[in-house]
Formats: sequence, C-alpha cells, structure tokens
Amino acid sequence: MGHIQITPSILNADFADLGAEVARIAGADWVHVDVMDNHFVPNLTFGPTMVEALSKATDLPLDAHLMIADPDRWAPGYAEAGAGSVTFHVEAAAAPVRLAREIRAQGARASMALKPATPIEPYADLLPELDMVLVMTVEPGFGGQKFLDLCLPKIRRTRELIARHGGDVWLQVDGGVSLETIERCAQAGADVFVAGSAVYSADDPDAMVAALRAKAEA
Ligand code: DX5
Ligand code: ZN
Repeated sequence: MGHIQITPSILNADFADLGAEVARIAGADWVHVDVMDNHFVPNLTFGPTMVEALSKATDLPLDAHLMIADPDRWAPGYAEAGAGSVTFHVEAAAAPVRLAREIRAQGARASMALKPATPIEPYADLLPELDMVLVMTVEPGFGGQKFLDLCLPKIRRTRELIARHGGDVWLQVDGGVSLETIERCAQAGADVFVAGSAVYSADDPDAMVAALRAKAEA
C-alpha cells in the first residue's frame, strides 16, 4: 500500500475566499476540488476556470473530482487547467479506457470513481490504465453526509484487486470521512482520504489534517 495522504475538500470552505481557505490546509497532500454540474448530481459548483485560478493560489496539487455528465468531453480540460489528478465517474463515462489515456496524455493522474451502488469487479481489468480508484462512501452531491459503512467491503475488495494487479494504484475514499470513520477506511485498505466538513468545520483545519493523518497511520 502507498503512504497515507490527506486531501481536504474545499466544498465546505468559504467560496468567497478560497485563496485564504487553501492556505489554512498547508499540511495537506492535495486539495480536493468537487466539480458538480447539476446533471450527474443535483448540485452545482464550479468549472475549469476555477481550477485554473486555484492552481495559481496554492502550491498544493489539485485533485479534481468530476461529478459531471459526459466526462469524456470535459475531463481532459481539467488536466489542462492545472489539476494534477482528474477523477471521472465510471457511471457517466462512455469510454473509460480512452478517457483515462487522454487524462494521462495531458500529464495528470487518471482516476475512476464509483458511487456506493457501483461494483468494482466489472472494471478490474481497467486497473493498469488508472493511477487511483475513488470509492465513494456517500452518494455524491453534498458535503456533510453520514459515512456509509456498507461501502467498507468494496474498499477491501478493491484493495485485493489492486494487490493482484500489482501496480501502484492509490485507493481513495470520499464522504463522511472523520476522526470517527477514517480508521475503518484505512483498515479496509484505503490510502488517500478526502475530508470536507471534518476539516473545514474545525477551528484549526491544518491541525485536523494532522489528526486525521495520525489516525489513518495508526
Ligand atoms: C461529496 C463530495 C465530497 C464532499 C465530502 O459529493 O464528493 O468530496 O466534499 O464532504 P464530507 O467530508 O463532509 O462528507
Ligand atoms: Zn469529492
């Protein structure tokens, strides 16, 4: 397994002051940017111009999570806009292999996300094309939802498939990750942890990043 990485989501940060908000998580490994289009999920956030602006506002690499329809058309543009990692939802992708290759060709890490009801097994053969798999632990669309324990067996099965494949594929979890739930995810085999409300509702977001890291490494 790779080393533990903490990727705070700015979804629950102050959108009117994002430059200052990312400065409050200097000890994080990535900034997780939730892109929503009001079609794939019933919520709307921002697009590639915001990713471009953020990439100039922080030295941290950007982890773009695209909760959008037609990622085949739009995802490579997020790599071009400066995201170091681009995650598309496999439920929305028409040609995930071609898409992953296009993201890599733009110089970014290619990542595939699964909603809670989407199994990993049909996509096991895609692992060599991917740098990361995101197992959602809530239904995508909103921050602050309750962690779904029913996703833990899929985290375990995904870790097993990655081990069998033998490549260096990261395993990310996103949704309801907190001091209460992060150990369960780490024990199941996750190594990259998104946390939104847990980090940005804390008085000291950077101290929360460190506390989450300590729990995951324990
Ligand atoms: C949810 C987003 C998450 C969200 C996580 O659809 O993909 O990244 O920001 O927020 P919390 O950690 O509050 O569940
Ligand atoms: Zn996300």
